[in-house]
Amino acid sequence: MTDPAAGPVTKAVVTVAGLGTRFLPATKATPKEMLPVVDKPAIQYVVEEAVAAGLDDVLLVTGRNKNAIENHFDRNWELEAALEAKGDLERLARVRETVVVADMHYTRQGDPRGLGHAVLCAARHVGDAPFAVLLGDDLIDPRDPLLTTMLDVRTRHGGSVVALMRVPADQINLYGCAEVDHTPRENDDTGTDDIVRVTDLVEKPEVADAPSDLAVIGRYVLDPGVFDVLRKTSPGRGGEIQLTDALRTMARSGDHGPVHGVVFEGRRYDTGDRLEYLKTVVRLACDREDLGPDLRAWLKDFVGAGMGG
Ligand code: G1P
Repeated sequence: MTDPAAGPVTKAVVTVAGLGTRFLPATKATPKEMLPVVDKPAIQYVVEEAVAAGLDDVLLVTGRNKNAIENHFDRNWELEAALEAKGDLERLARVRETVVVADMHYTRQGDPRGLGHAVLCAARHVGDAPFAVLLGDDLIDPRDPLLTTMLDVRTRHGGSVVALMRVPADQINLYGCAEVDHTPRENDDTGTDDIVRVTDLVEKPEVADAPSDLAVIGRYVLDPGVFDVLRKTSPGRGGEIQLTDALRTMARSGDHGPVHGVVFEGRRYDTGDRLEYLKTVVRLACDREDLGPDLRAWLKDFVGAGMGG
């Protein structure tokens, strides 16, 4: 019998259970993941990223108030019929794209007990195979194939893989932080600048105690052994069950294979923060063929005119 734990990654788990308080009142009745980034909700970029990396079975771990997300990835017959009647085939195609994007599944977290707990809610759906986790707030630019690189590291080395990014030292307290081993090994690509062995992890350390400037960003490829470890992980920072703490146990013990880090140098957008969200919308809109030229010209005038006009 083949061992599913050794097989390929086919499933993605996307966590969207947060409350979105930073965007109130916009997020009073609308999940923050549905806020538009140009003309697609943020969550659609994340699901498309999973699909682009070959993972078209997507489980969303949701919470209260997230029904709009399920509706977004479902058919909307009235809208489709109205667009068809008007002959607006371009918009009709865009609406239909959201339905065929992936094989979508949903589960609810119930109690908001932290990211580790949200991942544990996916245990039954995931089963015994390795899987990816994508945090709904973090957008990775579609032109920078981070997840594909991480899946490749898992294929070659087994175990688990986290995405890391260098951040200014005074911001490391906002993230999980990795202690890494750079020692090169013969016939092995780990220990290079962009693939490192993770020896320890700490969730949101004080700046003075941080083992490095390498922050965990919201992409993970996990060995299914993480579920057993999470079940035994006590609440940590903020009284929540932290995924970082489970990965720390795995990195230290090596029980479920090694933990590697892929150091990402591409474009990441944090849509959970208002200022970063605004920058994301502007940057992605500037790059668009349909909106970019006019928006860039306007921005130039706006900034040139001292931004008041
Ligand atoms: C979560 C994780 C943290 C990680 C961060 C990335 O924190 O717990 O380790 O660095 O996502 O965005 P949150 O931002 O949900 O507080």
